[in-house]
Amino acid sequence: MSNAGNGSRRYAHICGWGTSVPKRILSNSELAQMVDTDDKWIVERTGISQRFIANAEETTATLGADAAREALDIANISPDDLDLIIVATCTPEHHFPSTASIIQDALGARNAGAFDISAACTGFVYALSIASQAIQAATMNTVLVIGAETLSKIVNWDDRGTCVLFGDGAGAFVLQGSYDPGGVRTSVLRSDGSGRDLLKVPAGGSAIPASYDTIRDNLHCIQMNGREVFRFATRVMADACRDVVSAAGLTMEDIDVIVPHQANKRIIEAAARGLRLPIDKFIVNLDRYGNTSAASIPIALCEAVSEGRVRPNDNLVLVAFGGGLTWGASLVTWDVTPQPPLTGLRRFRRQALYRVARMRSAVRRGARAIEGTIWGSQAPDGMEPPRRDRT
Ligand code: COA
Repeated sequence: MSNAGNGSRRYAHICGWGTSVPKRILSNSELAQMVDTDDKWIVERTGISQRFIANAEETTATLGADAAREALDIANISPDDLDLIIVATCTPEHHFPSTASIIQDALGARNAGAFDISAACTGFVYALSIASQAIQAATMNTVLVIGAETLSKIVNWDDRGTCVLFGDGAGAFVLQGSYDPGGVRTSVLRSDGSGRDLLKVPAGGSAIPASYDTIRDNLHCIQMNGREVFRFATRVMADACRDVVSAAGLTMEDIDVIVPHQANKRIIEAAARGLRLPIDKFIVNLDRYGNTSAASIPIALCEAVSEGRVRPNDNLVLVAFGGGLTWGASLVTWDVTPQPPLTGLRRFRRQALYRVARMRSAVRRGARAIEGTIWGSQAPDGMEPPRRDRT
């Protein structure tokens, strides 16, 4: 990106993008053998025909890291150049450490900070907003934003009201600062916590810690009031689009493409009607992916770019809603300068970098284990371990 702009204002430009999905596809007819449903009902009520389902080795971090590698390749940016990694997810690898830290290690991004954000299906829009503001404030220059989910691992496979909806996958974008106007122009973020019970995973946090009872009662799985979420979604999608367009000083006529959260085709159609826009302005790929929560917008946008549905200098609205309740939208001008693809030696070097990162991580963990064995019984200077015989 050039730094020879027309003023001192900085802009956050998208310069790389990538996706990753699990190998296994679960079709509606396979689902119909598991719960009392059928392909016709699912297609008519949701628009979904199939979804990708992770196996035991495919996790939120592995999918996120694969998407990130693709995005870094397209941007032609080395992991060492990353200042920050933000992962939007509601299916993190663990409560902590963050999924972002695990991906930072997998990429060998030695100069990057890393954290996760939790805003359910609106997470990618929240993360994009945080990343672009860090770049605009010049505290960061290159930020990796990932939406990654393995919802199949928290779905109640006996609940036909939810298990037909969700799928797994990841999408990643690299953002970089420049003085050239464009890129992520503005975002609106909203929340209404009074609707927190409409879509949630009740147990496993501080309100209801994990216990035998919570596992028996399926309280670690998604619970949803589908009709209420549907009503909320159809209302806020159009509102968020209008708000972000006006915050950017544009009108709806200036918008070329809308990339909505891929939850239900009927919700997207209702938003199109509410905004009086033709449905072909909306990217819809939920038929093949289902609802991948925070990953759905980056996956849909990547696919739209590869299919040529997003053209240079198009104005895009990315709009999402989800648990919290949360909703929000970002306005992006697609002014990407394509980089030459990584070929031959450079691709080989990049693969070697990732192998070195894996080895470095293994060596560090090994060294830490040895250090622990040697120093384990001794407290660091000035710190005495608590004695059990004290009262
Ligand atoms: N297969 C067959 N029948 C099903 C079913 C399934 N998978 N799931 C529910 N049904 C049944 C219900 O039991 C109900 O039967 P009843 O009338 O005998 O009680 C009937 O279908 C209608 O249920 P209803 O909940 O009114 O259906 P709906 O048209 O609202 O569609 C959703 C259900 C879940 C598809 C829809 O409410 C929805 O998409 N909500 C938003 C969900 C969402 O986007 N969540 C993620 C937000 S990020």
